Amino acid sequence: MMLKDKVAVVTGAGRGIGREIALLMARHGARVVVNDYGGSEAGAGGTRGPADEVADEIKRAGGQAAANYDSVASMAGGQAIVRTAVDAFGRVDIVVNNAGILRDRMIFNMSEDEWDAVIDTHLKGCFAVTRAAAPLMREQKSGRFINMTSTSGLIGNVGQANYAAAKLGILGLTKVTALDMARYNVTANCISPFAWTRMIGTIPTETEAQKARVEKIKKLSPAHIAPVAVFLASDAAKDVTGQIFGVRGKEIMLFSHERPIMRVHNSEGWTPESLSDMFPGTLLHHLVPLVTSGQYFNYDPLV
Ligand SMILES: NC(=O)c1ccc[n+]([C@@H]2O[C@H](COP(=O)([O-])OP(=O)(O)OC[C@H]3O[C@@H](n4cnc5c(N)ncnc54)[C@H](O)[C@@H]3O)[C@@H](O)[C@H]2O)c1
Repeated sequence: MMLKDKVAVVTGAGRGIGREIALLMARHGARVVVNDYGGSEAGAGGTRGPADEVADEIKRAGGQAAANYDSVASMAGGQAIVRTAVDAFGRVDIVVNNAGILRDRMIFNMSEDEWDAVIDTHLKGCFAVTRAAAPLMREQKSGRFINMTSTSGLIGNVGQANYAAAKLGILGLTKVTALDMARYNVTANCISPFAWTRMIGTIPTETEAQKARVEKIKKLSPAHIAPVAVFLASDAAKDVTGQIFGVRGKEIMLFSHERPIMRVHNSEGWTPESLSDMFPGTLLHHLVPLVTSGQYFNYDPLV
């Protein structure tokens, strides 16, 4: 029971990774707000079914849960989700910003609606729920934020400019949340998951590379992600903050952070010409290859 008496909010918990996190947090004694606006893959109309089903499953197993159906993608939605926790259970200790959608399109075809829908759900949604919970955690001098990022942003993926931008934005948001909240014993970390869920089922599989990537992901259960979220939410991880953990089947990874990997200095200052002269013998050797997440992680993590 690593989360006894804690109150957790898990967004997008009606399906996939969020559902598994909500169920395992409840099994570890947390009282859980199961948020999900119940949207279809195409983003149409919300239903209460997914959030209700997970909340009922927690209650049937002897746990405590409250369902919430607001979209994370507005400040009012974020406030309402956190208010559900306070009204039902009196406080909020843990926020898992997990709700998400995909609207994949090549950069030369992506519409404003596709851009806005993904940025609003992931990046603004993460901010909206964080902004609602942060003052309460500051007041109580404890708390946990666990935000879902993605190797689409950390490494790269074809056709996901909106999603990659949102997910790297979430990393920046997480880092600054960790810095702003450090003195209040509040941690903020990212998980970069790999799992077969409905969302991955919406990735176009037109090219052979896309097909191969999706076939590999099909073997990875969303249940693998939940233990890492429970650990980060627990007292055992009180000193772990501002980090990025990858979870891929039975493999857990700690990601590096952006730091200069090489420096060149010219006491006279650089000109385009002097940089062109210097570049091949120096920085060129350290360029990072441009690959997709699927190309980088191309081995089976389940063996
Ligand atoms: N599955 C993966 O391999 C993978 C990889 C990288 C990152 N992620 C991230 O993990 C998180 C969970 O994804 P998943 O794969 O479980 O997807 P999923 O589609 O199975 O679940 C996402 C849930 O979020 C809900 N949701 C969507 N928009 C919402 C909104 N505005 N308000 C409230 N709920 C909303 C959906 O209704 C759905 O139930 C996402 O943030 C996703 O970007 C997943």
